[in-house]
Amino acid sequence: MSGTAETLLEVRNLSRHFGAHQVLGDVSFDLRRGEILGLLGPNGSGKSTVLNIVSGFLAANGGSIGLNGRPIVNAGPENVTAAGLVRTFQLPSMPRRMTVREVVQAGDATTATLASATRPLRFDNEVDELIAAFNLGPVAGLPASSLSGGQKKLLSVAVALRCRPRILCLDEPTAGVHPNLRAEMVRILRRYNAEGVAMLVVEHDMLFIRDLCHRCVVLDRGEIIADCAPASLEDNPRVVEAYLGKAVEKGKLAS
Ligand SMILES: Nc1ncnc2c1ncn2[C@@H]1O[C@H](COP(=O)(O)OP(=O)(O)O)[C@@H](O)[C@H]1O
Ligand SMILES: [Mg+2]
Repeated sequence: MSGTAETLLEVRNLSRHFGAHQVLGDVSFDLRRGEILGLLGPNGSGKSTVLNIVSGFLAANGGSIGLNGRPIVNAGPENVTAAGLVRTFQLPSMPRRMTVREVVQAGDATTATLASATRPLRFDNEVDELIAAFNLGPVAGLPASSLSGGQKKLLSVAVALRCRPRILCLDEPTAGVHPNLRAEMVRILRRYNAEGVAMLVVEHDMLFIRDLCHRCVVLDRGEIIADCAPASLEDNPRVVEAYLGKAVEKGKLAS
C-alpha cells in the first residue's frame, strides 16, 4: 500500500509501546481526499493512541505520517494543527470563564491562520446553526465547563468544525450524546465533508458509522485487521472475532 495523489493522510508502520506494553504494532492506513474514514476496534485496541499520535499529542516509537505529502510524525500538536489537522478528545475539557456561545464563536477567531490556509467555507449563521443543531440553545449562556459530558462532546465537535480543518479527527463523538442528536450530527458532519473536510472518526455506534463513513479500518490489539465498507463489517469474520467475548449486539459492535 503506498500513497497516491488521492491520499491526504498517509500513516505508515506506526508503533508505540508504554513500558513493556506494545500498544500499536505496525499500523498503516490512508485517509483519502474527501473521505470519512471510521477507525473502529474494541476498547483498549489502540484507537485513541492512533489519534494522539496522528494529532501530534503523543510521540510514536516508529513509523511515519504524511499530511498532504509533508511529514508530521512527532511534529507536536501546534505544527500538526497548523498543517490543517484538528482533533477532538474522548473526554473534552472546557473553559470555566467562557460561555458555550463564546466557545463556539471563538473556534474561528483563534484559528485564523488555519482558516486562511484552508478553503474558505462560509455558512450563514453558522454559530446559531451549530448551537441549534446540537441542542445547545438552552445552555448557550452558561459556562462551558458546566455542561454534561455529552453536551461537552457536542460543543467540542462544533468548535472543531468552526476551525475548518483539512482533516477532522473525532474520538467517540456520540458517546454520552442523546440518541436523537446523532442523526443531526451526521447531517452536519456530511455538510462540512461536502465542503472538503476529510474525517477520521473513532466511534462504536454502528448506525452512526453506517450513515457517516465511506470506509472503515478496524484495530485489534494494535494491529489493523480489516479495511472495508461499513456495510461489510458485521460479515467480516476477523471483525466479529475481535469483538467476541464482548457484547456483539445487532447494530452495535460495542465493548
Ligand atoms: N499514557 C498511557 N500510558 C500507559 N498505557 C496507555 C497510555 N495510553 C494508552 N495506554 C494503553 O494503551 C492501550 C490502548 O489504549 P487506547 O488507545 O486508549 O485504546 P482505545 O481508544 O482503542 O480504547 C490500553 O491498554 C491503554 O491502557
Ligand atoms: Mg479511546
